[in-house]
Amino acid sequence: MLPFQKACRIISVYVLVASGIPAVLCQTAPKSESGPAIVYVKAGHLFDATSDNLRDNVVLVVEGERIRKVAPAADISIPTGATVVDLSKDWVLPGLIDCHTHLEARADHYDPIWDVKETPFDGGFNGVVNANKTLMAGFTGVRDVGSQPFFAVDLRRAIDAGDFPGPRVVASGPPISITGGHGDMNGFAPGVENLMYPAERDFQLADGPEAVRHIVREQVKYGVDVIKILATGGVLSQGDKPGAEQMTYDEMKMAVDTGHAAGRKVAAHAHGTEGIKDAVRAGVDSIEHGSLIDAEGIEMMKAHGTYLVADIYNDDYILGKAVEFGLPKENVDKEKMVGRLQRENFAKAVTAGVKIAFGTDAGVYPHGDNAKQFHYMVKFGMTPAGAIRAATSSAADLIDRAKDEGTLEAGKYADLIAVTENPLDRIEVLEHVSVVMKGGKVYKDEIGAVAKR
Ligand code: ARG
Repeated sequence: MLPFQKACRIISVYVLVASGIPAVLCQTAPKSESGPAIVYVKAGHLFDATSDNLRDNVVLVVEGERIRKVAPAADISIPTGATVVDLSKDWVLPGLIDCHTHLEARADHYDPIWDVKETPFDGGFNGVVNANKTLMAGFTGVRDVGSQPFFAVDLRRAIDAGDFPGPRVVASGPPISITGGHGDMNGFAPGVENLMYPAERDFQLADGPEAVRHIVREQVKYGVDVIKILATGGVLSQGDKPGAEQMTYDEMKMAVDTGHAAGRKVAAHAHGTEGIKDAVRAGVDSIEHGSLIDAEGIEMMKAHGTYLVADIYNDDYILGKAVEFGLPKENVDKEKMVGRLQRENFAKAVTAGVKIAFGTDAGVYPHGDNAKQFHYMVKFGMTPAGAIRAATSSAADLIDRAKDEGTLEAGKYADLIAVTENPLDRIEVLEHVSVVMKGGKVYKDEIGAVAKR
């Protein structure tokens, strides 16, 4: 058995046993003497995300992990014996990208007491299971924006090494919070957090620009791709207000300057109106949540080219589960204050032409349900094509992976999905993806698309 086949066999068994999710298929054409395996993907309808349009009857020639050519079916002759992925009756799109996940987190408890109960090992196990669920849902890429140090970096490495199936990961470290801010352990007796090992804390505290500079540099040293700052208060934290600015402008500016100097993008959690504006002024690359943005903030985001990554599905799940989870009244009230406004303000930002990238905060709701957000993105002002591009070409641009991901063109990774209905007619079809290919390998095939010609 070749090492690759052996690895696939191990992964398949592992995934079946560990998570009860369909095993990796690992079909590839036999290697020719001269180079990597060639797979022909027949696409009945192709949304390549370079425009808002569909093209019919196209073939993608995949060589190894990348697309070598995309051409009309009539122009490609498929040799006998070649491996074909027959999607000639289906709609083929680039693999989706979720720019706001927490793969370490589970969505069945929000109580901060878990911060002192769970170990980094729990987070690691969650990550293996959640990475698989995310990939099977058609998300071949994520930007993971907050976890214990340095879970997301290790997850990225393990998935890239082929240790287990998962999306490509753009990794942040622990979010950077002010003392008492959205990331801090508020409401505990003094000293409780000192009983935790530093590696158990899924946040880093910084007060003052110098402290911020040190943490950003340290995170870069440990291999993060992106810096996550907590600019304002939050919903699911204790004792703070989503609308209140937390980091100062100078602290944010330091995070941005230090991150950018190291070639890292900076994402700012920001619900509050003034915090959003200071984050944009400071030069962050994306505003996460953006709930209470006003007209001026919208204009500023347009002027700066800042992306909005708004988790507008979350509200349904949080309020739906509040009783079952015993969610404290404080958090329920904050969600009620923010949820509806976030959706209305998202619609205003879309209308104004703010750049939108898809991001859900998966981990607050169950991993694998990421695509449920598309419904709301369309309901609140985007076209179906626009919503898909937010999760493909625009997402890849935001996370600095446009060279490799986000569109189906020659030279890019062969990361693609298929659905059995036209997503431009009914966006919700993306909630059930039948085929997932990542880097030329088929990880999910519910319709028997992989065949020999
Ligand atoms: N992590 C976010 C926070 O606690 C979740 C916000 C969810 N609510 C929403 N309407 N998007 O602030």
